[in-house]
Amino acid sequence: MEEEFDSLSYSEAPKIIVRPPGPKSLEILREQRSLETRTLIYPKVFEFAIDSARGATIRDVDGNYYVDWVAGIAVLNVGHNNPYVINAIREQLDRYVHWMSEIPSEARIRFLKNLHSILPPGLRGKARVITSVTGASAVEAAIAIARWASKKPVIMAFEGAYHGVHQGAVMATAKRGLQRLSSMPLINVVRIPYPYPYRCPMPAKDPEECGYMVLSYIEHLLSDPYSGVGDVGAIIFEPIEGEGGYIVPPRDFLKGLREIADKHGILLIADEIQSGVGRTGKWWAVEHFGITPDIMTISKAIGGGIPISFVAYRDDLDEKLEEMFHLGTYRANPLGLAAGSAVIDYIRSRNLLERASSLGDHTINRFREMMERYEIIGDVRGIGFMIGVELVKSKRTKEPGEKIAQELRKRLFQRGLLMHTCGHYGNVMRFMAPLVISKKHLEAGLEIFEEEVASLSKEIKAG
Ligand SMILES: Cc1ncc(COP(=O)(O)O)c(C=O)c1O
Repeated sequence: MEEEFDSLSYSEAPKIIVRPPGPKSLEILREQRSLETRTLIYPKVFEFAIDSARGATIRDVDGNYYVDWVAGIAVLNVGHNNPYVINAIREQLDRYVHWMSEIPSEARIRFLKNLHSILPPGLRGKARVITSVTGASAVEAAIAIARWASKKPVIMAFEGAYHGVHQGAVMATAKRGLQRLSSMPLINVVRIPYPYPYRCPMPAKDPEECGYMVLSYIEHLLSDPYSGVGDVGAIIFEPIEGEGGYIVPPRDFLKGLREIADKHGILLIADEIQSGVGRTGKWWAVEHFGITPDIMTISKAIGGGIPISFVAYRDDLDEKLEEMFHLGTYRANPLGLAAGSAVIDYIRSRNLLERASSLGDHTINRFREMMERYEIIGDVRGIGFMIGVELVKSKRTKEPGEKIAQELRKRLFQRGLLMHTCGHYGNVMRFMAPLVISKKHLEAGLEIFEEEVASLSKEIKAG
């Protein structure tokens, strides 16, 4: 199997033949600036124009090869241009690309059976699915389901959460019935703290106590008639916070949240858009915490690079929804469905869950060893291939090292390693490589990472 993983990527990577951005990249970046909005951010962070990509590697137009630890923001779990996925898309291309998005096809049914078969045990065989396009559109559908089914107007969401940026286009749509179904006019979010063990918002002495204090606070908000919080229909959460900083909650936190939700008749929405589809070594991150959500959002990696998203939810909730509950021209794109079946088959047949666990353990241990050696690494956390390395100015003060993270990201890029940041302060380096990365490329990346952390630390020490 290792040979197959080797063959998926460009063996040349990492190889920098001209310091990026090279001349061809610069020219394309210049043209882009004249054609697109100046508000773009990624071309400023990773200054190159992409030529092609394979497995866990990318080639730029100047002939530089990079090891990719970004994976299109946790999308390419089975790697860039996975041949198995590309074949499935090609076969679908020969049949049809788009028609009315709800009309079934064999490919659609095959995908849905596949998807149902990997749902968390508590939902498997007891779920319905709504199809959509982007992560945010799935989240909007999930919130609408919860509000519609619970008939309660308030949603609780966590600090550090990222669920997307759609703005309720339905408000501008004239059909009153559709506004009503989507529940958007009344959107009302109450923000609650997330148990962030390294920076607990409560004065806790350890992660478990942090989780316990946050749960007590949520319980208080829900049970005190004077808390000012209205009728809560759902709590939406990321089982491991993504954009917020790859934050793993304390072990029993989600179980406690499940208990509170059950006690108060509240639905739990797990947003698995970033953490799902094998990234953490299980199909879904919630499985690590032994809970079943009532509603779950799925996108990113499931489409192998084709935009597609889903909401899976308890089938008894379906009876509460009306026809035309969720609309959109491009839901369940046939290319995405074909890709999705292939993604699931590939993860299964190549045992990628096991690979993400074992290589993920190895990788987190390497980062933890580095944490012992370097003052700028304050915390390392994660599960599987979802690992956050939090940079600080000093371990003692924990002052966030946002500038350090930006500088490190730039230096890694110039050495041929693509790694992005996240976190409340933008100071967390996140490891989200494709699960098919070869051991050789993983080690090459870890070496570059340590070398650059070492030289940055030295420079900072020297002032
Ligand atoms: C957990 C989570 N939910 C929702 C989204 C939004 O997805 P999209 O960007 O496809 O709208 C993201 C995107 O990063 C995400 O990480």
